[in-house]
Amino acid sequence: MSVSNQLSIRPRRLRTSPNLRAMVRETSLTVNDFIYPLFVTHGENVRQPISSMPGVYQFSVDQLAGEVKEVAQLGIPAVILFGLPAEKDAIGLENFADDGVVQRAIRAIKQAVPELIVITDVCLCEYTDHGHCGLLNSGGEERPHPTVDEGYVLNDETLDILAEVAISHAQAGADIVAPSGMMDGMVQAIRRGLDACDYSHIPVMSYAVKYASAFYGPFRDAADGAPKFGDRKTHQMDPANVREALREASLDVEEGADFLMVKPGLSYLDVIRVVADHFPELPMVAYNVSGEYSMIKAAAANGWIDERQAVLEALMSFKRAGADLIITYHAKDAAAWLR
Ligand code: PBG
Repeated sequence: MSVSNQLSIRPRRLRTSPNLRAMVRETSLTVNDFIYPLFVTHGENVRQPISSMPGVYQFSVDQLAGEVKEVAQLGIPAVILFGLPAEKDAIGLENFADDGVVQRAIRAIKQAVPELIVITDVCLCEYTDHGHCGLLNSGGEERPHPTVDEGYVLNDETLDILAEVAISHAQAGADIVAPSGMMDGMVQAIRRGLDACDYSHIPVMSYAVKYASAFYGPFRDAADGAPKFGDRKTHQMDPANVREALREASLDVEEGADFLMVKPGLSYLDVIRVVADHFPELPMVAYNVSGEYSMIKAAAANGWIDERQAVLEALMSFKRAGADLIITYHAKDAAAWLR
């Protein structure tokens, strides 16, 4: 007779009561793990619901003080900002303007809750009229890279702008900058730019491993950042690849990244695990993206799933996979449930 048939070893012994289960719990989820995303827009008294993301809003700057006080009262330590500019152009000028919507939002948040950590997303896609994450090859005789097609996102030309944006956010009072555009060398360009302007104390949270994902769909409504043509497959990663994730992450570490991120989260828990194991010296961030949020919200609204349990289970899975921090639209709800 085998041991299991004798039933002398019974894992259920350790599950008999809530206290016993708490004693043997291997992973913890706390409010300190959360980073809450905020979308900021021009205008006054704006609190515009995003239809594809129930419970998420675009806020005008004057509405932020109230919102971030609530966030801080829940115990959430950090927010990440995304801006919707008044006007878009080929370069995205408002992205590094002193009176840009994100720069104004940073100042308003810092005034309302000085200790709240303000992270800013650093990318071009919400600011450019073409909706791409970098400057585009315009084609024609004088195009800088005649080997690539018109409409190709230019890498090195974009780096200077990313550095300008990061410096401008730091100047406005941001605590951490988070480049999300998957341009080669973006961490180094931003690090050098910040250091040259006396912002050597500002950490870079790199969206090091970002996949070309369908799960960003609702965000592109929220931030009005969908590409007007084409897709992002020439810079974001192929969902089939994981070796390449290590290559991306190790470059960012060499370039001076202070945090590594994997995005999206739920379909990429294996990638989080591998990157966390290979780079245990850096804090690991998982981005629980818009599509993942909206799927749970939709199922819950239909009565198909218990929202509270499903959200806490999904958030726990990021921690179990090796993430230290989770960017999530569920942060406020989860913080209240964890109290
Ligand atoms: C780019 C950016 C995107 C997201 C965060 N930063 C969109 C994209 O890469 O297309 C998506 C976040 C989400 O889906 O919640 N600035």
